[in-house]
Amino acid sequence: AHFKPKNLPLTGKKVVVTAGPTRERIDPVRYISNFSSGKMGYSMAEAAASLGAETILISGPVSLDKPAGVKIVDVESAAEMFEAVRAEYHDATIVIKSAAVADYRPAEIHTQKIKKSDDDDSVIELARTTDILQTLGEWKEDQVLVGFAAETENVIENGKGKLQRKNLDYIIVNDVTDPGGGFGSDTNVVTLISKNGTYHPYSSMPKKELATVLLQEIVQEEGLDTN
Ligand code: CTP
Ligand code: CA
Repeated sequence: AHFKPKNLPLTGKKVVVTAGPTRERIDPVRYISNFSSGKMGYSMAEAAASLGAETILISGPVSLDKPAGVKIVDVESAAEMFEAVRAEYHDATIVIKSAAVADYRPAEIHTQKIKKSDDDDSVIELARTTDILQTLGEWKEDQVLVGFAAETENVIENGKGKLQRKNLDYIIVNDVTDPGGGFGSDTNVVTLISKNGTYHPYSSMPKKELATVLLQEIVQEEGLDTN
């Protein structure tokens, strides 16, 4: 049998984490994106590795140091992130979707730089991206699926709605207007909601510390520390 120290409960298990924003190209020099820094996702990946997991970090464009002991897959668009996650999904024990995936992409990518002009009305037509997490929820076998939701109002209700709609096991919600955390911050204030209806609110703490606490809670609720 294989040796598994109590403090390394994820030894021999694969954890897939997505992080950062996606970029959706408009033309060769422009894109649509969002303010995600990737810090929470990178912290989740570091936490998974520190609990012994084989950790795959699928990362949108961020300016963070690569965490040690983690396999990084760099992607740009939502479509590329979807392909990368799909390739790692089947044998994953836990999948954590921290990425701020763009909901819309330009319907067409111009092959040449768009020039300004005085007589057009400058509309960019948008198309929906695939909801990666919702698709993973539809495909779920025995993976533990963890989503994130950054909200500005009705934080808990909106989070619970996403947990149910996307067939998740957990959702980690945060109010981005809370001064104790949010985009770009080194700290965060979140509530962990499980499909069983348990709520764990955490007060403001550093994202690195919070990531370990959240993952340990999930590992314990899933019984991954005892088998
Ligand atoms: N997500 C995803 N693929 C998308 C959009 C979102 O995988 N195309 C995932 C995110 O990574 C996150 C979760 O879904 O884990 C919730 O993202 P969020 O933007 O809060 O929810 P949406 O379902 O996109 O709803 P809305 O933006 O309208 O609030
Ligand atoms: Ca969204």
